[in-house]
Amino acid sequence: MNRNIRQHKVSQTAWVMRVAIIGVWGAMTALGQGTNSQLPAERTLREAAGKRLLVGCAVATVDLQDAKLATLIAEQFGCLTPEYELMPEHLVDADGKFTFARGDAVVAFAEKHRMPVFGHMLVWHFVTRKWLFEGRDGKPLPCEKALENLKSYIVAVTGHYKGKIKAWDVVNEALSDKEGEYLRETPALRAIGGDYIEKAFEFARAADPDAELYYNDYNIEQPAKLAKTRRLIRDLKAKGVRIDAVGIQGHWLLDWPPAEMIGTGIEALAAEGVKVMITELDVDPLPRDTSGADMAVTEKGANPYPDGLPSILQERLARRYGEIVAAVLKHPSVTMLGFWGTHDGRSWLNDFPVKGRTNHPLLFDRQCRPKPALDSVIKALESGR
Ligand code: XIL
Repeated sequence: MNRNIRQHKVSQTAWVMRVAIIGVWGAMTALGQGTNSQLPAERTLREAAGKRLLVGCAVATVDLQDAKLATLIAEQFGCLTPEYELMPEHLVDADGKFTFARGDAVVAFAEKHRMPVFGHMLVWHFVTRKWLFEGRDGKPLPCEKALENLKSYIVAVTGHYKGKIKAWDVVNEALSDKEGEYLRETPALRAIGGDYIEKAFEFARAADPDAELYYNDYNIEQPAKLAKTRRLIRDLKAKGVRIDAVGIQGHWLLDWPPAEMIGTGIEALAAEGVKVMITELDVDPLPRDTSGADMAVTEKGANPYPDGLPSILQERLARRYGEIVAAVLKHPSVTMLGFWGTHDGRSWLNDFPVKGRTNHPLLFDRQCRPKPALDSVIKALESGR
């Protein structure tokens, strides 16, 4: 597609912002400080995606308090996912008292900019209050009590955000990474049994019938966990539970998984009769021993690029993003592509799986300057429409 043909009217503010970026860009490059080899793309991600799919990012209130970043988010993206402020540990305290202020701030920003919000998440074994499923002694609560807690938590949160959240990740990362084990051993599983998944969907459906409900996980495009995900979708459907989509997190590496595997995974999930979202896309360009996003994993490793990613890797990252987006867009079942953050300074990969590294996985650098990866994603979006 000819990139010079403008199909969307760009607002004046958007243009002022873009001219400003180009100005700063020019100055940085003239001073020899620019790390990027290309001019910023002419179009935004949202414009490049057009009506094909929503392009989103994870944000927290701290991002929105930074005026420059908030403008960039509003201009570039078409939907938002609160990065952590809707997680149970952030919404409810150890005594069961709810505080919605921060989550509300992200939702209000999204509303103001007419961006649908994808709610992350209702049930996870991480960033969650122990009292939901465990007694003070660390032992699983009796099933009835744990179910009651699960229900009241889901009703409180989905009720508070009713009509404001387009879709909820109802259950996050319930599948086991271990060969031969279906579900991950979690406090919810120990207290309730495998039924906790269908119950969570049922409670959420009853509390907010208009929200779409998703199952979200990492590595599920890869054969071992793909089979378990298909089984989970079938199990839920066999029990009459409606599941609208599966979210493939998409925490990927420069060379893993292959783009063909991503495509095959999406196809197989769609064949089960669900939509497929890419919910947490980022590409880790630093050396790692493990792939995926198991929060329990920690690695020791060097911090090889504290002053910026060498241009050869910057280009590899851009090519990898281009190949991923092209692979994803081949599948009409994918209607949302969300990046897990905006700029490198705010990526969770600065602390995972190695703590305290300077990582460079996103489309904008620490100064919010566009990286070659941005241009590459925009081109892939334009040609994939
Ligand atoms: C991470 C967030 O980015 C962090 O801010 C938070 O402290 C922990 O979670 N898979 C998920 C996301 O589903 O919730 C994780 O995000 C990254 C891995």
